Order: sequence, then C-alpha cells, then structure tokens
Amino acid sequence: MLDVSTIDQFYGGSHTLRGVSLSVRQGECLALLGRNGVGKTTLLKCVMGVLPVARGEVRFGGADVTRLPPHQRAARGMAYVPQGRDIFARLTVEENLLMGMSARPASQARRIKEEVFELFPVLKSMLGRRGGDLSGGQQQQLAIARALVAEPRLIILDEPTEGIQPSIIKDIARVIHMLRQRGDMAILLCEQYFEFARELADRFVVLSRGEVVARGDRAAIDGEDVRRHLSV
Ligand SMILES: Nc1ncnc2c1ncn2[C@@H]1O[C@H](COP(=O)(O)OP(=O)(O)O)[C@@H](O)[C@H]1O
Ligand SMILES: [Mg+2]
Repeated sequence: MLDVSTIDQFYGGSHTLRGVSLSVRQGECLALLGRNGVGKTTLLKCVMGVLPVARGEVRFGGADVTRLPPHQRAARGMAYVPQGRDIFARLTVEENLLMGMSARPASQARRIKEEVFELFPVLKSMLGRRGGDLSGGQQQQLAIARALVAEPRLIILDEPTEGIQPSIIKDIARVIHMLRQRGDMAILLCEQYFEFARELADRFVVLSRGEVVARGDRAAIDGEDVRRHLSV
C-alpha cells in the first residue's frame, strides 16, 4: 500500500532524514520506533506531503505521490493523525468529524457513519461539545475518528499515546487492533511507548539520527539491538 524509498530531508543545513525506506502492506501495522528527535515526525510529514522531500520517492497504492500536496494524498486514501492531535478546538466534535470527511469526493455521501461511534462511543455523547473542551484522551480519540471518517486505505498515527491516561490508551489500542484485524487498511504507527507498539505491530522499523538502524518482524521486536536504540 505504502512504499517509501530512500528519502532524504533537510531542515536548513541539518540532514534530518538519511536514505529512509519502509513499506506498509494492506492489513498490516508497521511500528516506527525511535527516541525523541530522531526524525519520526519529519518522516511522517514527508509521507503525507506536509513537508517536501529533498530526494527519494513516496508511492501509494502503486502510484508515485511524491510531488502531490497533502489534500490530494488524502483524497487518494491517506489519512494522518498528527502528533499533539491538532483537532479544531473551536469547532464542535461533529464539525471536527465533518472536516475529516471533506477529503472524500463530493459525489459520496457526507454523513458520519455510525461505525465511528461504535469505535469511540464517547464521541457520540459529545457531538455538540467544542473540541477544545474535551480531555486530552478524548481529543486523541476525536483526531483518530476524524481520520477514519474519510475511510482511508492508510492511516498514519504519530504517537497516539503521548500524554494520555491509561484507560484511554487501552481504548485506542483496541481500535487499532480492530482496524488491523479488519484487514483492509495499512497502519503506520509511530510510537515511543514500546509496549503499546509491540502489542500491535506486525513489523517494525527503528530510526536513529535520521537513519533506519533496525527493522524486523514482530518476533524480533524484543531484540537487544532494538532496545538499545530505544532506551533513554
Ligand atoms: N521545523 C523544524 N525546523 C528545524 N528543525 C526541526 C524542525 N522540526 C524538527 N526539527 C529537528 O529535526 C529533528 C527531528 O525531529 P522530529 O522529526 O520531530 O523527531 P521525532 O518525531 O523523532 O521526535 C530534531 O532534531 C528536531 O529538533
Ligand atoms: Mg515526533
């Protein structure tokens, strides 16, 4: 579904991503791991087109999307849940969800499907509440729901557990697990919370200083080389 090959990216003179490659298949969850500041968010922004790449290629569903702006990638089925959530604080929960649907072609119905409330029941009771009045965990659920209403084929999640209480982390894990089980979506999950990623990932990639330093499948995620790159 997603193929990222040999991406380089710079912030001014600093070389932030160095020849990074990864791929995510349909029905699979790939965990992107690494300490603070190694380039995870930068990579996800390049994948979504929020940042341009200096070199390399991003392919989605077999097509080259490297030069497409984010909204065109969204229209093709890529969805992005940014780090820190970035929900619209002054819009209601319902309006936030409707914004998420704006990526869909105008020909398709823009009604919020009941399914999203099955995944996140709390949102149903809060439809009229302003996003900014929700707790951090509820905002994270709203941000994920906003991505899902677009019915994406790829969802990119940037540290969804950051600053969130344990009970809501469990709810979010359940949703990601369910999406994975459903098998029609590719999931790119960036995490610093190792146990959370280990529970959900089919494969993993570890970044260090902008480079991939380890990768493997689920069974290898507990390896010493992985832990070494994650411990602080
Ligand atoms: N907008 C920016 N301008 C300049 N440097 C940045 C910018 N955003 C991030 N950086 C730097 O790029 C590196 C990678 O950051 P980031 O991708 O946010 O890492 P991570 O998500 O892994 O914590 C860090 O050294 C960070 O300070
Ligand atoms: Mg980050």
